[in-house]
Amino acid sequence: MIAARRWLRWPMVHLGGHRPAFTASPEGRPDIGFLADDSRHFDLFARWLYAEWSQPRGETFENRQISLRGQMHVDRLPIALTAYWEGNPAGIVSLRRTDLHTRAHVGPWLSALLVDPAYRHLGVGRDLVAATLALAGWLGYPEVWLFTPDRRSFYEELGWERVEPLAAELRQTPVPDVFRHATWITDGDVRAAGSGALPQRA
Ligand SMILES: CC(C)(COP(=O)(O)OP(=O)(O)OC[C@H]1O[C@@H](n2cnc3c(N)ncnc32)[C@H](O)[C@@H]1OP(=O)(O)O)[C@@H](O)C(=O)NCCC(=O)NCCS
Repeated sequence: MIAARRWLRWPMVHLGGHRPAFTASPEGRPDIGFLADDSRHFDLFARWLYAEWSQPRGETFENRQISLRGQMHVDRLPIALTAYWEGNPAGIVSLRRTDLHTRAHVGPWLSALLVDPAYRHLGVGRDLVAATLALAGWLGYPEVWLFTPDRRSFYEELGWERVEPLAAELRQTPVPDVFRHATWITDGDVRAAGSGALPQRA
């Protein structure tokens, strides 16, 4: 039960104030923050994203840098969040207006979630997902969307709702799994905005 409370209580964004700000992380959890607030490792994050997604598609490192630089905001989209584990860069995620051309009218979208292999299976990915939902709630969005070609079970475990594929998506290879989740906001305690359900882990 104590463990469950801990999952639910982190990460939190402060309500009020002129901009979103994440609370300090408890022991054993990554520090989550905005790339815009700490760009010391900008090139490292850009290299990770380039190797994972740009290079296989034949896109350039320069374009990836430009795209990431455009995400250095804190209170307007697109926004890149970063995770640090004991002071070391561990992961990154984006919240952006659109991501899947077949669903241009819903959003915002959680995109480009990436955890350095050295820090996987520690909960960094899960915390970045939770932070994205909290941030979107702070920004006033009722839900967040994402698609994944191959990580369906990861998001199902986190309580995301998979939606029916559209005809145009069924023609893609692989067919993307599209998910949505109500956002949640925090005010000293965590509460759900919308569905009332938060991802719970034992
Ligand atoms: C998908 C990805 C972001 C997950 O990151 P992560 O930090 O390892 O995620 P978590 O630690 O929160 O959870 C991952 C797994 O670790 C397990 N886990 C979490 N905390 C754990 C802990 N303390 N001890 C043991 N296992 C744990 C989770 O159950 C989960 O299990 P699974 O791999 O069987 O699904 C990461 O693998 C990655 O960057 N992959 C490449 C890029 C990618 O696919 N991105 C997603 C695009 S849709």
